Amino acid sequence: MDLSVIRKSQLIPFRGVPLPNYFLKNMEKVGEFEADKTDVLIATYPKAGTTWMQEIVDCVLHGGDVRQCEQSPIHYRSPFLEAFFPEMPSGLELLAEIPSPKPIKTHLPFQLIPTSFLQKQCKIIYCARNAKDNVVSFFHFDRMNMLQPDPGTWEEFLQKFLTGNVTYGLWHDHVKGWWEQRGNFPILYMFYEDMKEDPRREIKRVAEFLGKELGSKELDTIVAHTSFNAMKLNPMTNYSTIPLDVLDQRTSPFMRKGIVGNWKTHFTVAQNQMFEEDYCRRMVGSTLHFRTEL
Ligand code: A3P
Repeated sequence: MDLSVIRKSQLIPFRGVPLPNYFLKNMEKVGEFEADKTDVLIATYPKAGTTWMQEIVDCVLHGGDVRQCEQSPIHYRSPFLEAFFPEMPSGLELLAEIPSPKPIKTHLPFQLIPTSFLQKQCKIIYCARNAKDNVVSFFHFDRMNMLQPDPGTWEEFLQKFLTGNVTYGLWHDHVKGWWEQRGNFPILYMFYEDMKEDPRREIKRVAEFLGKELGSKELDTIVAHTSFNAMKLNPMTNYSTIPLDVLDQRTSPFMRKGIVGNWKTHFTVAQNQMFEEDYCRRMVGSTLHFRTEL
């Protein structure tokens, strides 16, 4: 891999949504992707617990046989649909290599997903995380990921997040866009906070949604295998197989804190007030509610 070509990306709007400049020339092809009707789409705003959900879905699809999920890194077992980075296989290339049913990752807002997922009534799991923890996690990710735009200071990043000047745009539009479609398609809308509160209950919901009956033992195995501590130590889920020149885990580990409420050590009182005022304005009228502490 020629890592000298790795550069912080610039954001360019694609149909109004800011995406890394790298992705743009591939987006038409992404739109034409033909999903299999057994494929499972895992959609999230970045840093909402995508990897956690990918690992859970892969374990469920394998009936709780977690050894099968230890064969290769998560980004091979559950490719990132729209990924198109220099010197790396694209999401579409990786998807072509693995058989269905496969768990497919995307961060695209609802209006940009390939229509084949909807036409074929593929099962879709959307995982959302409260905006305050989400923005904190995103800030640290942009610090350590050399392919993401430079986050600037925490204060600067917070402003960018609130104006939608971050990869995939406004959090509020993303979570609401998917929420509004949940009755129209087979979409299971999950919350990071619920998963932290009772992972066993939430993994069971995922399994039921996917039509997989799991015994109590299999369920326990998946709960243990997908706990934060297990995933932090597991090279197949912690992204340690990606070179440090790309994901600089010395600056901030990919498996960083994994908790609800980490925002409290980042937001000042003034930032919190400003954030909440903006939040109320943008989320007014929505039935979507988040917990920012457990
Ligand atoms: P923090 O940065 O708050 O620690 P994504 O996979 O969408 O990029 O999300 C990454 C976030 O999910 C990180 O949050 C990471 O620590 C957290 N995460 C990953 N696996 C987890 C798990 N098994 N349990 C709880 N949180 C997890």
